[in-house]
Amino acid sequence: MLKGKHLIDPMDFTTDEIEEIFKLADQIISCQREFAHICDGKLLATLFYEPSTRTRFSFEAAMLRLGGQVIGFSEPNSSSVSKGESVADTIKTVGCYADIAVMRHPKEGAPKVASMYSEMPVINAGDGGHQHPTQTLTDLLTIRSAKGRLNDLTIGCCGDLKFGRTVHSLIKALSRYENNKLVLISPSELKVPDYIKKEILEKNNIEFIEVEKLEDVIDKVDILYMTRVQRERFFNEDDYIRLRDRYILDKEKMNKASEEMIVLHPLPRVNEISCEVDDDPRAYYFKQAKYGMYVRMALIAKLLGVK
Ligand code: CP
Repeated sequence: MLKGKHLIDPMDFTTDEIEEIFKLADQIISCQREFAHICDGKLLATLFYEPSTRTRFSFEAAMLRLGGQVIGFSEPNSSSVSKGESVADTIKTVGCYADIAVMRHPKEGAPKVASMYSEMPVINAGDGGHQHPTQTLTDLLTIRSAKGRLNDLTIGCCGDLKFGRTVHSLIKALSRYENNKLVLISPSELKVPDYIKKEILEKNNIEFIEVEKLEDVIDKVDILYMTRVQRERFFNEDDYIRLRDRYILDKEKMNKASEEMIVLHPLPRVNEISCEVDDDPRAYYFKQAKYGMYVRMALIAKLLGVK
């Protein structure tokens, strides 16, 4: 039963509950018109303390396509946050008006704090370099649709694995499905944090390797999950400039990969996937952005408990 729950961490829902969301997303994809009014009279609040295109727009599009309406801010300085209002007071106030809230915040744990003060469901839309659970639902639905399964896969995660919250959430989620293997491709400075290796990968006996060169492993993965170097999380601009173009997926590298491999990217991309790859049938990242809207439609419906 998902009605009334918060989604802060990818582990907040069981795999059965996630499958329930995916089954509803499948139904929405096959007949969107049938769901056009299930959220009539409901209001979604989008509280974005950090920039976003996909997450905010897909949530807003999702609610509007379900018949509901949307309020919110995309620039915290246009709200009383600029006067020093706390996350707790903001969410308590927004709860007087809305039925469900989505929050993105630069501080890790801020959406969790909001959920502790909220009677309406709160969804974490990305907190600092920590987690991004609805991107993970998007990624899993895309993989499930492309591959027909979420187990027995070799997933290569490439780029900024230190600050990339989408990778952290995806690794957590994939660790619950059987026989998945991870190939972690990053410069030594941007490796997956130790807590994820110890508490998720080692604890769950997930097979993984860490490498620096994409060319060495591209032919071994079923899924290649590219990520942007997260400029906004760097303390030093020189380090960012040195590392930003370490990986550029181009046609030459794609020629070394399996015909069955798919390329995902949470987007936005900067230089890490050359535009020449976009026409390759294995490039799934814009399809992935669309799955993001469908899965958020299903999530909103489930958390609101609408039929
Ligand atoms: N994938 C993702 O979170 O994109 P935005 O930052 O544009 O929301």
